[in-house]
Amino acid sequence: RQKEKHALLEAHTYSAKLYHYLLQNMEVAKPAKAYLNSRGFTDALIEEFGIGYAPARWDTLTQALERKGYSLAEMETGGLLSRRQEGEGYVDRFRDRIMFPIHDANGREIAFGGRLMTDGQPKYLNSPETPLFNKSRTLYRLGQARPAIRRMRQVVLLEGYVDVIKAWSAGVHQGVATMGTALTGEHAALLKRFADEAVICYDGDDAGQAAAHKSIPILEEAGFRVRVGILPNRMDPDEYITSYGPEPFVREIIEGAVSAIKFQLIYLRKSHILLEEDGRIRYLREAVRLVARRDSPTERELLLKELAQEFGVSIDTLKQEAADIRQQEK
Ligand code: CTP
Ligand code: MN
Ligand code: MN
Ligand code: MN
Ligand code: MN
Repeated sequence: RQKEKHALLEAHTYSAKLYHYLLQNMEVAKPAKAYLNSRGFTDALIEEFGIGYAPARWDTLTQALERKGYSLAEMETGGLLSRRQEGEGYVDRFRDRIMFPIHDANGREIAFGGRLMTDGQPKYLNSPETPLFNKSRTLYRLGQARPAIRRMRQVVLLEGYVDVIKAWSAGVHQGVATMGTALTGEHAALLKRFADEAVICYDGDDAGQAAAHKSIPILEEAGFRVRVGILPNRMDPDEYITSYGPEPFVREIIEGAVSAIKFQLIYLRKSHILLEEDGRIRYLREAVRLVARRDSPTERELLLKELAQEFGVSIDTLKQEAADIRQQEK
């Protein structure tokens, strides 16, 4: 077991170096390089994040690993190779993709995310679950972001590779990503060792906002104070930074992130028609329920006051309703 893991770790380090070397030096990687440059990846970013390129051939990595004397069966278990569809043997798992190496908390390569440069499917192909790579425990760039997270006692949660990299280049060094899977309690517990505040900054599209909504209770249960950075026009952090620049991203989105309860109220609003009385009543009831669950009486009072003013009802009515809900949910 240990020996197999050791060989896999070594093979990942080697593969990351190979993919990176190919991107930086080979003629066949020119389109990949041009693609990265067109998306704002400077050479400094490519170096910092160890980005690489897996050529379109079937056997680039397979041959290299074989020459190095690795067991190809073990490399298939490790997610670097795939079994040939027909006949014996193995082929490269990642072909004609931009390669983002994924590291463990100690900075060792344990997996890859590979992006197509065209509109094919899947857009990202990640390593499968392997003896090295457990998705519910791994966060992209946690090892590298840990010093900044510790220093600031804050972690910024993003969706994807590109968002983490662009946020980093904007000066947000405390960013990590869940890579397409949902945030788990394990992720939250892991992060809680280094931070007290979590700023969720998922994509502004419906999927991203729904994921933010689901992540809030997971983070709060782990003990985090939670805020949410809300991106306009369904943008993701990369698109926002590309359109508006790094300073507005840091100032308005990260520093200006709203409290979890504010986000939940905004989110709740979207599913109610406030122009109709019926919708207003249902929204207000759900909103008061969310507010009633807050621990701080001051916070509850302030939020109820805002709701009372906006909907033209008395604060006493809402307070009574909140008190009833608290009683019920005890
Ligand atoms: N993802 C994945 N598999 C997919 C799509 C997405 O694993 N088929 C993960 C990747 O880690 C990706 C993240 O989910 O970075 C967010 O997905 P998405 O928002 O669709 O992609 P972007 O990160 O915005 O990628 P890009 O900007 O390159 O289009
Ligand atoms: Mn290099
Ligand atoms: Mn997304
Ligand atoms: Mn996105
Ligand atoms: Mn994107």
